[in-house]
Amino acid sequence: MNIPRDIYPVPADFAANTRVNREQYQALYKQSLDDPDGFWAGVAERLEWMKTPTKIKNTSFDLADFRIRWYEDGELNVSGNCLDRHLETRGDKTALIFEPDSPDTPAERISYRELHQRVCKLANALRALGIGKGDRVTIYLPMIPEAAIAMLACARIGAVHMVVFGGFAANSIADRVSDSGSKLIITADEGLRGGRKVKLKVNVDAALKLPGTNTVETVLVVRHTGAAVDMQMPRDRWYDAVVDGQPEACEPERMNAEDPLFILYTSGSTGKPKGVLHTTGGYLVYVSYTHETIFDLREDDVYWCTADVGWVTGHSYIVYGPLANGATSLIFEGVPNYPDMSRFWQVVDKHQVTTFYTAPTAIRALMREGEGPVKATSRKSLRLLGSVGEPINPEAWRWYHDVVGEGRCPIVDTWWQTENGGILISPLPGATDLKPGCATNPFFGVKPAIVDTNGNFIEGEGSGNLVITDSWPSQSRSIYGDHQRFIDTYFKTYPGTYFTGDGCRRDADGDYWITGRVDDVINVSGHRIGTAEVESALVSHDKVAEAAVVGFPHDLKGQGIYVYVTLIAGEVASDELRVELIRHVRAEIGPIASIDHLQWAPGLPKTRSGKIMRRILRKIAENAPDQLGDTSTLADPSVVDSLVKERYIPE
Ligand code: WTA
Repeated sequence: MNIPRDIYPVPADFAANTRVNREQYQALYKQSLDDPDGFWAGVAERLEWMKTPTKIKNTSFDLADFRIRWYEDGELNVSGNCLDRHLETRGDKTALIFEPDSPDTPAERISYRELHQRVCKLANALRALGIGKGDRVTIYLPMIPEAAIAMLACARIGAVHMVVFGGFAANSIADRVSDSGSKLIITADEGLRGGRKVKLKVNVDAALKLPGTNTVETVLVVRHTGAAVDMQMPRDRWYDAVVDGQPEACEPERMNAEDPLFILYTSGSTGKPKGVLHTTGGYLVYVSYTHETIFDLREDDVYWCTADVGWVTGHSYIVYGPLANGATSLIFEGVPNYPDMSRFWQVVDKHQVTTFYTAPTAIRALMREGEGPVKATSRKSLRLLGSVGEPINPEAWRWYHDVVGEGRCPIVDTWWQTENGGILISPLPGATDLKPGCATNPFFGVKPAIVDTNGNFIEGEGSGNLVITDSWPSQSRSIYGDHQRFIDTYFKTYPGTYFTGDGCRRDADGDYWITGRVDDVINVSGHRIGTAEVESALVSHDKVAEAAVVGFPHDLKGQGIYVYVTLIAGEVASDELRVELIRHVRAEIGPIASIDHLQWAPGLPKTRSGKIMRRILRKIAENAPDQLGDTSTLADPSVVDSLVKERYIPE
């Protein structure tokens, strides 16, 4: 990897007026490692506890004595911290701004007082429907205020929410509902994205016909587009009908710090998606503290994270972090290019957004349209930009900085994962000189290290695999229903450490550059897709004998999906079949699993023991046939020649 040399120093106004400056960062970082108990006990005071924790950190990554517990004797309620706590001082402050898909639909501003009422009413309705502490609730909603309200209502009564991204299809919903054993689903008639309708209720209906989903007793349906949908009584209930008559107060449940808050499914290298489990106390402490520090939060900020609440970024940095901090958080239903390529910046101007947090894939797509759509807007309100979800290439970084931010706004390139709960490596805008494409420094309490493939620690400058050597408060505690898989996946590869699955380089200044996944996870437009999931969707088609899936560099998406398909003997490859297979995978997993290239493979490169050699397939997909390396261990080296010959070559 070529390391760019340009450095963007901390702007003077940030250095002079910031939450954490350079000296403070160094001192606090040191303190956080020297005395984690003292440090995190202090940070925890930012929340309101029903019972103040006296035990702070009780963690070990040692397999013989494995445990991750934070604030274990503390009690609190997340929704109480995000709502009730602000009523006295910020009751009339806007908690959520809702910007609908179409700019012609009026935006909504919801104060902390109103949000509190709406959450309490839904929480009471859920209790009346028999949902209580520990029950799982699936949320499958568009980006509308009810998504945040539903999460907070679950948190209020101690139910464990499990949000499914609206871009997943019936099968993916069913897998998640059944694995989590959800009793209730909150959905909407339809979603809207870029003027197109997303048939959410239809997808839920189809999912609930699939095996394993009969734990679901109730489906609450938000009337959003007003489309006529099939209501199956008594299972299906209109959200407004059950919520309207409910009282506006609801006692928050007392939760132990280690009680589950949510499950969120994410893709791994093998098998089905994993239900990443997050708990209450450590999670909220960490997301609120990182949100305040990394985004240098001010009381009058208008903060906008463009992620979907279906991903962890939406959980931690649209809903929980900002609301715990009493911030104003913007929820956007739409897409960057509707009705035109200026939409993001029009929304920034309309709501006077100060802090804007998005993904590199969006920046690259907008950059392709040139400066015109950006320059057509003012953006004077912006003071800080953020990036998340995948490595940001230096060209996109510079465009974001120079064109969008007019050179005025620092960019926080925040590295973290669903399993992390919150940001682990990021610049602090008042403390860190920026380098395009560099996530720079660990946050307080985070101990990154780089290991080679044999597990030897690499000190100083160098590259390898990124591990974290000690626990932080918002770390995932388990994989729902399969604790052993949690340990096997993250803590066995390099014993004594949490393995991230990412490659990383440390430069001469000690700054961290994340280079992308080193496992069989593809990061498509910032969304994690497991090669195993796409492969299993492909082989579920009756004409497919075998499939292998790899990622390849893609200009817009970061990585694209490249698949090799071997047909059942007697089946004939054709363009129609290619289209059918691509459609099949989208129907099985959802529109986010869109195959970019499908190559017919008479055979796949395998070792003599039958293992597919993906390294070779990756190089072919990257159009680098001269870098295949050693192919002598293949059972039949000749299959490689034909794959190379037939490979997709970009124009
Ligand atoms: C990648 C999203 C480089 C990384 C919060 C990680 C990044 C995966 C960055 C997690 C970044 C996320 N720079 N790579 N700033 N942020 N990634 O679980 O490969 O959806 O392992 O969490 O995204 O994706 P996830």
